[in-house]
Amino acid sequence: MTTPSPSGHKHWSNRLAFIIATTGAAVGLGNIWRFPYITGQNGGGAFVVVYVICVLLVGIPLVLAEMAIGHSAQKNPLDALRTLAKKHNASEHWRWVGLLGLITLTVILSFYSVIGGFSLYYLFKALSGTFNHASASTVALVWQQLVTHPWQMLFWHSLFMLMTMGVISAGVINGLERATKIMMPALYIILFVLVACAAKIGDFHRAFLYLFHPNWHLINAHIVISALGHAFFTLALGAGALLTYASYSKPNSTLLGSVIPVVILDVLVAFLSGLAIFPLVFAFHLPVTSGPGLMYQALPIAFAHIHGGQWLGVLFFLLLLFAAWTSSINLAEPIIATLSQRAYASRRSSAWLIGFVAWALGIASLLSFNILAHVQWHHHTVFDLISSTSTDYLLPLGGLGFAVFAGWVMSPATLKASICKSSVVFYSWLWLTRIVAPLAILLILL
Ligand code: TRP
Repeated sequence: MTTPSPSGHKHWSNRLAFIIATTGAAVGLGNIWRFPYITGQNGGGAFVVVYVICVLLVGIPLVLAEMAIGHSAQKNPLDALRTLAKKHNASEHWRWVGLLGLITLTVILSFYSVIGGFSLYYLFKALSGTFNHASASTVALVWQQLVTHPWQMLFWHSLFMLMTMGVISAGVINGLERATKIMMPALYIILFVLVACAAKIGDFHRAFLYLFHPNWHLINAHIVISALGHAFFTLALGAGALLTYASYSKPNSTLLGSVIPVVILDVLVAFLSGLAIFPLVFAFHLPVTSGPGLMYQALPIAFAHIHGGQWLGVLFFLLLLFAAWTSSINLAEPIIATLSQRAYASRRSSAWLIGFVAWALGIASLLSFNILAHVQWHHHTVFDLISSTSTDYLLPLGGLGFAVFAGWVMSPATLKASICKSSVVFYSWLWLTRIVAPLAILLILL
């Protein structure tokens, strides 16, 4: 992944490597699994429009703000905020924003690994031919058999976490960069193929209208909060993860040109996934509000119905797994970078430590699909609450902290050197980051 500089800090080998790693972080379960089911729970097109507005007006400026902090400090979240605050004579307390981010990442990693485990299970099922010529009810049964067996879920959750920590502690992120270069384009191709299959056997017209023809009267506070939260989640924004990856990019590079392609690629995957899943959802009468099971219950129907579906399914779950893997590595890296750069523990021990904590925390999410399913608050399970609190509240709160810090504490000259050369673009960004984005977040959260 990175080569150490004279100061000992590691760097991406080049700009493309940084873009690839950041795309790997952004594109994941959030796009393929989370986007469709959250859209379904929030009324379709209305949610999609607000989500896109959030990505453009809040997401892009704040990705740049968060990255600029890491880029100019060349340090982990905690030390980046502490050093820059000191340099600009600001309060030491800014480091709490970094700490909040590390806590948020641990919580997200905990349930991310549970869902990552689902894709391992489905890969295994696709390999063993379970979906071949299966009916929609058989496909639904496969999901039921997974979520009603906590030990089985625990097995796949543990395996996924081991895979994440294995890569990080073995320091083979290098190989991952090369693999991402092949796997990402493959993921796009297979998503296009799935959209075509869904158009053939499903109700494409209805799905398209559902996603892109908003029912404006559906918009309410809850939809707006979910859209903002999802924009943060999918962009990997608001917890110091982008800050950490940007700290590995060379100090003399600028960020804007790397960020735009990542955002476009990220939103595109979500749309493709929606266009692959909803035609099946409508044609096979799955409830759009199915929740976290939506993708896992819809796509295998396509694999059951088409010629060569088994191998398409295997390939899809393999690529999904890979996308989830590169995201979970991104979730863990900031914590490991902080612990090891501060010499509390080696990279290896930090990886196993944080892996264990997130794994143990993940058990609460896991049990909420079965043993704890009845434990609900306003119809939300423990998993729903953990996922929405961290995504819809903690990420935007962290993002707000980064925005205010970059916009008001750091000097425009430092920022301009990190972000882009053009003054017009830079000052537009600066005012979006200083005023528009923070106000939008505050308004939505309050
Ligand atoms: N963006 C990833 C996805 O869509 C999830 C993710 C990776 C993330 N790193 C993150 C979310 C950091 C929040 C913060 O699947």
